[in-house]
Amino acid sequence: MAVLKLAVSLLATTLGTTAAITRVDPIVSIKNGSYEGLYLPAFDQDIFLGIPYAQDTGGANRFRIPQSLDETWNDTRAAKAYGPGCPDYYLSAEVLHGMSENCLSINIVRPAGIRQNGNEAPLLPVMFWIHGGAYQYGGSAQPQYNLTYLVQKSVDIGFPIIGVSLNYRKGGWGNMYSIEIQGSGNTNLALRDMRLALAWVQENIGSFGGNASSVTIWGQSAGSFAVGQLVMSYGGRTDGLFHRSIQESGSATTAWCNGSDWYQPIYNKIVDQVNCSSAPDTLECLRTIDYETLYPFLNSSAIPGPGFYPTVDGDVLPNYPSELLRAGRFAHMPHLYGTVSDEGTDNAPLGINTDAELHNYLLYGVGFGFPAGTVDHILELYPDDPAQGVPVNTGAERFADRGWQYKRVAAIVGDIFYHGPRRYDAKHYVKYSPTYIYRFNTRPWESTSSNATISGGGELAPAYKGVEHFSEVAFVFANPTTVGPWPEYRRLSSQLSTQWIRFAHTGNPNGPGLPHWPQYDEAENGLNLVLQTEAQGGSYVEDDTYRLAGREYLTQWSRRRHV
Ligand SMILES: *[C@@H]1O[C@H](CO)[C@@H](O)[C@H](O)[C@H]1NC(C)=O
Ligand SMILES: *[C@@H]1O[C@H](CO)[C@@H](O)[C@H](O)[C@H]1NC(C)=O
Ligand SMILES: *[C@@H]1O[C@H](CO)[C@@H](O)[C@H](O)[C@H]1NC(C)=O
Ligand SMILES: *[C@@H]1O[C@H](CO)[C@@H](O)[C@H](O)[C@H]1NC(C)=O
Ligand SMILES: *[C@@H]1O[C@H](CO)[C@@H](O)[C@H](O)[C@H]1NC(C)=O
Ligand SMILES: *[C@@H]1O[C@H](CO)[C@@H](O)[C@H](O)[C@H]1NC(C)=O
Ligand SMILES: *[C@@H]1O[C@H](CO)[C@@H](O)[C@H](O)[C@H]1NC(C)=O
Ligand SMILES: *[C@@H]1O[C@H](CO)[C@@H](O)[C@H](O)[C@H]1NC(C)=O
Repeated sequence: MAVLKLAVSLLATTLGTTAAITRVDPIVSIKNGSYEGLYLPAFDQDIFLGIPYAQDTGGANRFRIPQSLDETWNDTRAAKAYGPGCPDYYLSAEVLHGMSENCLSINIVRPAGIRQNGNEAPLLPVMFWIHGGAYQYGGSAQPQYNLTYLVQKSVDIGFPIIGVSLNYRKGGWGNMYSIEIQGSGNTNLALRDMRLALAWVQENIGSFGGNASSVTIWGQSAGSFAVGQLVMSYGGRTDGLFHRSIQESGSATTAWCNGSDWYQPIYNKIVDQVNCSSAPDTLECLRTIDYETLYPFLNSSAIPGPGFYPTVDGDVLPNYPSELLRAGRFAHMPHLYGTVSDEGTDNAPLGINTDAELHNYLLYGVGFGFPAGTVDHILELYPDDPAQGVPVNTGAERFADRGWQYKRVAAIVGDIFYHGPRRYDAKHYVKYSPTYIYRFNTRPWESTSSNATISGGGELAPAYKGVEHFSEVAFVFANPTTVGPWPEYRRLSSQLSTQWIRFAHTGNPNGPGLPHWPQYDEAENGLNLVLQTEAQGGSYVEDDTYRLAGREYLTQWSRRRHV
């Protein structure tokens, strides 16, 4: 790290002297007042961090739809550090810019010197990043989501963008559900936070030089479930908030849509634990409890099930995502969307050795209530043949220390959660608008120690993980510290970031020097661009037919994935 810092400050000095540009920290005036950001000389960039886009969600605003800012000031406020993360229970170091209910903030990264002093430079398209974390954890301050490098790339290729990221409420703080929540209209707070942040962008991004008529919503994992859900929110009513979508590994139909049968007992228990049971209005009572007192009782890991997820509330989500898709009730706009080859390796339960254990897991462990006959059919469609399992292309190897049937169960869960829903979404999206699908197929570089630098340390991710969930993120963000040192990885990252940026500009990821990316429906079974390094043979187009029978069968079942 010391080496890296030294290199960066040397670079800054060099740039500063040779280019002879002296810039100061930027000040931008928006609706409520002025903010002073930070000028980054090493990147010739302005960053504005931790700007609130909604009121504090504590006290009377807890479990309440996000409230617009309603304040003005005359002095200049600082926007120089990431804001606190929204409450969660994983307490990952990344999120620890503090944690608070006062967490609804936005970050903006722009090239310096645009639209200043009344010049008439064009306004820049906005890429609006929604972080993942299973809807339970994560935050915009994680170093993997540093937008500096992508913005720098956009300038280098002559298609400059403004990068935006946000914090939104997670876990029970953002997805609590019960009759009380439904009855009072306080459902799906996480999605509503995102929509309010997008409304803030509509009102204010012009002051930063961004084009409010060119906003691409973009996310990975739960951030990608969320993009799908935003695309179908209010049955496709965007209110002009966004104009294109990018989904990396996650569908609106991936997440459960459990209802009050599942959540009411959980809610009641929380109410009971903080002695609100006899209050006339339990929800109002929960708002009077100290944060510290309430905090332990919303711990997603200590509650049955995988956590709190968006619900079909008849409002933000007017119906089950699978039904909205089927009915065409979603925003018809250009989509860029994909998965990694080996989704499933990080979700696969360990220690599945026998058919009986796998059968049992699919009946009771996966959480979808598959009937026994369905489970039997799934086992037929996914035979215990390691050559057909996941990670793909690992032949007869079984990685048996993770369970004799590890590759089989990884293929099944990867298809249930990701590859099946992705195909279903693509088939529906492309009926209405240009849709470009990828399959990312390069095993990532992993840093092996905290002192790995851009030029040293680190190695190929372990074979049993394969091209696992999250692998493409470093490549898209064009971050040399996370892509790793290898030249062919840097070139693949350059390709992906260019494709993403071009898509944000025009709704089409194609351009000179890039592999041709056809629309999904240019062949009957669908077409994917396989993204991989030159050493692997370079990117190429495939028919979307891998594990086709299994994926199509599982997708039928996703339609009834609700309780
Ligand atoms: C503060 O900013 C928000 C978001 O742009 C805007 O909706 C609101 O009207 C502003 N309030 C005042 C009082 O300026
Ligand atoms: C801002 O300045 C105006 C004009 O001087 C003044 O009327 C107003 O009260 C000030 N607002 C605040 C929040 O200080
Ligand atoms: C959340 O609950 C899990 C399981 O009980 C526990 O291990 C963990 O420490 C809790 N997290 C926090 C932050 O309290
Ligand atoms: C903003 O984006 C829209 C849609 O892409 C485009 O038509 C318009 O020209 C852009 N405006 C500016 C000022 O760049
Ligand atoms: C990205 O990382 C660089 C290098 O650590 C840092 O200087 C910059 O402030 C970061 N940018 C953002 C937006 O966090
Ligand atoms: C709830 O009431 C019980 C019994 O009076 C008490 O022991 C407990 O500390 C209270 N819990 C909270 C969170 O106030
Ligand atoms: C939804 O409910 C089922 C039981 O019907 C349960 O197994 C599953 O874990 C629940 N999902 C969530 C996200 O809580
Ligand atoms: C730092 O990295 C070097 C090799 O790059 C390695 O040998 C050393 O053990 C690492 N030190 C720590 C403290 O991780």
